[in-house]
Order: sequence, then structure tokens, then C-alpha cells
Amino acid sequence: MSSEQTTDSSGPSGAGVGPWGLKLAGVGAALPPKVLTNDDLTAWMDTSDEWIRERTGIGERRLGGTTSGLATEAARAALEAAGTAPTDIEQVILATTSPDYMLPGTAPAVARELGIDCGAFDLQAACSGWVYGLVVANGLIAQGMKKILVIGAETLDRMTDYHDRGTGILFGNGAGAVVVERDESSQGQLLSWDLGSNGQHVHILYSEHDGKIQMDGREVFRQAVTVIQRSANAAMERAGLTVDDIDLIVPHQANIRIVEAAWKRLGFSMDKTEMVLEHTGNTSAASIPLALDNAINNGRIQPGSTVLFVGFGAGMTWASAIVRWS
Ligand code: COA
Repeated sequence: MSSEQTTDSSGPSGAGVGPWGLKLAGVGAALPPKVLTNDDLTAWMDTSDEWIRERTGIGERRLGGTTSGLATEAARAALEAAGTAPTDIEQVILATTSPDYMLPGTAPAVARELGIDCGAFDLQAACSGWVYGLVVANGLIAQGMKKILVIGAETLDRMTDYHDRGTGILFGNGAGAVVVERDESSQGQLLSWDLGSNGQHVHILYSEHDGKIQMDGREVFRQAVTVIQRSANAAMERAGLTVDDIDLIVPHQANIRIVEAAWKRLGFSMDKTEMVLEHTGNTSAASIPLALDNAINNGRIQPGSTVLFVGFGAGMTWASAIVRWS
């Protein structure tokens, strides 16, 4: 069963107005320079650019870099966009499924690179991780914190077999970061959220320690469409919103056909959807903040905009959050 917000939680109620607000004050992104195109893959794999684009919407993905390095680059860009000094950050939350080391977590290295020694931890909820992080940040802000970095960063090339036709076409590296601030004006709000998991489906998408990603693509596709629909609906219902109230949807960038199939059932339009998948591939926890960065750079979000984030991934996990922009 999904964890649900309740009206007696310290966050905003389902009606969406709390005593304090939440502001996504600055967003930044980082992609490593090395590009692996679909045509590159055809050199060693029985595939084609046409097939990959048609079945996934992906044209290329990025390789190289380190998770801490990409996370730090994205975080610096987010801090600059927010006009926030690193020393004002009170917590670093790094959503990643591909940490630099098994031990320790990667977030402390990112904090150190930023020159700060605040709390720093990794959050592993696969491709839903950044949305989980946003909800955790909202809880910390309810406890009195003012500025938190919520980062999604991945180097999936270390876990991907680029000779495998199922997974090698999908995954790439990247990072996105957001400075999440307490908004005393209460204009910005996390209006609602929905977090869920189903551990029955561990083995449809997983990796052993030091292994490569194993995936039942068809089953992942089927489950993803179902959980996205359920989770997005739950978040809208809790916020008292309908499809028409949502100005922009920023979904996890896994496969354009998963998004299209879910949207058909939800009644969402692709025109209101931010997609960067064609140029990034699936970057797991980084994909939503990467797409958010693109949306902001293209002026698609204004003060007062209502933005729905929806993630899903290995676990399975899923996560939706609706933010009213400050
Ligand atoms: N290039 C060309 N042909 C390919 C191929 C590739 N990379 N991969 C599979 N095929 C072929 C198969 O051989 C098969 O051919 P056949 O019909 O002649 O036997 C056909 O395409 C269908 O194979 P199938 O494995 O059923 O493909 P699919 O339509 O399920 O597409 C995925 C494969 C991986 C693109 C798709 O299952 C998918 O995207 N699933 C979701 C994965 C995902 O998003 N994971 C991350 C979630 S966070």
C-alpha cells in the first residue's frame, strides 16, 4: 500500500495550504561530454536507430564521469541559480542507484566538494529517488530546516552491458540538483505526494553487487504504466486537483511509450509534458531534475504554475509529488 499523507502530518494537508511553504529556488544539471548514439550501438549490436527511437524515444545517452562529480557540478549550478551560498545548505540528499562506492555513501563527498560539512546521505529508491528526496526534504523543512539540496545523480554506464539489446539501448549518466527552500510566503507548496513500493517485483529490474542491470523489459513496461497511473491519480486526488489543473508534468524519462500509454489512461497531454529522454536516455534518479532544468531553461514554469512530478522504477518503487511554484 502506498504511504499517504494525512491531515495531521506536519506537512501541508491534502487541501494544500500549510503554515510554511516550499520553494524550488534553483535547479541545475550536469551531463558528461561523451555521447553514445544509437548509430554507435549498431557497430556491435543487432539494432538500428529507427528501432530504438520508435520503441523508446531515445536517440543518444551520455557516458563517463563519476556520480559525485556530476552531482557536484549540478549542485553548483543549482546553487548559482538560487543565489544561495553553499554554506547556507543544511542538508544534502543524494538520490542515486550508482554511488561512487558501496561504502561510504556519495553525498558526503559531494558536500565536501561544495566546501560544507552539513548532514549528507544517499537515498536509494532507484528511478523514483529524486521525488522521494523532495518529500523527505519537505519533512525536514517542516522540522525547521531552511535550505536543502536534493540531487539525483547516476553513472549507470558502470552497471550497463552495452552489448545487451534490452538494457544497453536505455541507460546513461547525468545529474540534476535542486535547492529546496522553506518559503515563508507560503506561496510555493508541496500540495500532495504519493510514495509507494512493491517488493514482489525486485527481480524484474535489478543488479547484483558489481553486476550489470538485469531486466524483464516487457514486465517493467506493463508495471510502470499501471503504477504511474495509480500514483499520479492519488496525488491529484489528495491535492483536490484534476488533470486540467496541472500546468506541467515532469515524468521519469525511461521510455516515451510508457509515458504515452500512461497519459492515454490519465487524460494528460504530451504538450504539457517535459521530455529530455531523446538526448539523455534513462538516467534513473537524475532524470526528473534533468528534465526540470530543461523546463525552467525553456520558460515552461512560472510563479503559480502547478507541476506534477511522477517517478517509477526498480523495487518497484513509485513516487508522485505536486508542487505549486513560488
Ligand atoms: N534492437 C532491435 N530489435 C530488438 C531490440 C533492439 N535493441 N531488442 C529487442 N528487439 C527485437 C526482439 O528480438 C524481438 O524481435 P522478434 O519479434 O522478431 O522476436 C522484438 O524486438 C520484440 O522484443 P521485445 O524484447 O519484446 O521488445 P520490446 O518491444 O519489449 O522492447 C524494450 C524492449 C526494452 C525497449 C521495452 O521492453 C522497454 O522499454 N521496457 C521498459 C524498460 C524500462 O523502461 N526500464 C527502466 C524502467 S525505470
